[in-house]
Amino acid sequence: MTQNFKPCVTEIVGSYWGDEGKGRVASFEASDARLVLRTTGGNNAGHTIYYQGNKIPLHLVPGGIIYPQTTVIICNGVVIDPNVLYDEIQLLNCYISVTPERLIVSDCAHIIMPYHIYLDWIQEKMRDANKIGTTNRGIGPCYEDEAKRIGIRMQDLFRSEESLRQKLELALGFHHEILESNGIYYNVDALYHFCMEVKEKIGKFIGNPESLIAKALAAGDKIVIEGAQADHLDLLWGDYPNCTSSQCNPSGTLSGAGIGPVYAKKVIATMKSYCSRVGSGPFPTELFNEEGDLIRNLGHEYGTTTGRPRRCGWLDLVAFPKTRGYTDICLNHLDTIGLIGQKLGYIKVCVSYTYQGNVTTTFPTDVEVTGEVPIPNYEVFEGGWEISSDCKSYTQLPQKAKDFIALIENVTNVPVSYIGIGPNNEDTIVR
Ligand code: IMO
Ligand code: MG
Repeated sequence: MTQNFKPCVTEIVGSYWGDEGKGRVASFEASDARLVLRTTGGNNAGHTIYYQGNKIPLHLVPGGIIYPQTTVIICNGVVIDPNVLYDEIQLLNCYISVTPERLIVSDCAHIIMPYHIYLDWIQEKMRDANKIGTTNRGIGPCYEDEAKRIGIRMQDLFRSEESLRQKLELALGFHHEILESNGIYYNVDALYHFCMEVKEKIGKFIGNPESLIAKALAAGDKIVIEGAQADHLDLLWGDYPNCTSSQCNPSGTLSGAGIGPVYAKKVIATMKSYCSRVGSGPFPTELFNEEGDLIRNLGHEYGTTTGRPRRCGWLDLVAFPKTRGYTDICLNHLDTIGLIGQKLGYIKVCVSYTYQGNVTTTFPTDVEVTGEVPIPNYEVFEGGWEISSDCKSYTQLPQKAKDFIALIENVTNVPVSYIGIGPNNEDTIVR
């Protein structure tokens, strides 16, 4: 027999350190999708969607839910804080009707238990000077329990009382000493009641999404995956140990939905026209002066999840991952970098590093070991630009902005297909 796969999956992935504006291209791509999926991370992610002029901040529910033809699924790869999910459903219900036909929560997704949040905080305290700067949402400890095979999954809420209590007892057995030595006390009763409350609040959304995904793949219906976190935060290929605990690069993003690579049609790398990072870890082009302050203020670089001011620096093309098979780039904040250029008289883009005495275009994996920060070598653009409000196409962009885009395409070898030129989703040029 011959197989007839129809690649129909569009993945939207952060290609740097998160907060690249994945929500913009996600809402754009989801507008004609059948399924929209979240597959990695948890409520460490944050993006804002706009619905009939209302700003809705979301951390777990795929933003694609605002389109009437979509079903959205929170897949196995996600770790879920059930109270955050419930609050989001309540918030969304003010605008649209969130029914179990529209939102499915995989029965295999793991639950962030109340103790995971305390463990996150305790572990950061133990890391002391080496702290990661996690979002303190219990993400890491929940994935740790998943790997230890003592996690509590959504389907466990439907166990008999006796069997659920046994699971909770096992999990608590691993953690109670460290919790208690930090003054945190949980018992199985309290956790059992927590679980029953969760079941009451979100139980009707829990199910096995496989048949729905399989049906869409067989029909070649468009599936959009809203990635979370980013390539440099990936557990395996990111800046370990200053990364998150899930695999959030393009492969991990597919894996979180159980979808095989033959189905990928488009893999969109989102990036900004400058770089930002929250938490610890290498950031070669980081600016500690007024240039960085200008980027932070003009780009509104404060966390949607934690409110933290983000570390800011020039665009770093060395840090763009080269082996992931990105098919398109969504470049955001082209307007912002133009204004920065106007104010400073220049814009810089990093095209190589000097590291350990050599010029290189490879992002080093051992900066934790050498303790040496790569020194960026820049291409400098004179001046900046302003993008007029009636600019609707690439051809209408200022020449200098086009040169900036050309440099990105030449170095990454990936076409810049979406360009963000303003704060609203409509301020997007599609090439
Ligand atoms: P979105 O989807 C930016 C970072 C944290 C920390 C590290 C580990 O909005 O782009 P964790 O709580 O995951 O254990 O923290 O990862 N981090 C993010 N930074 N945007 C995100 O998501 C992030 N999710 C995690 O700041 O350095
Ligand atoms: Mg974020």
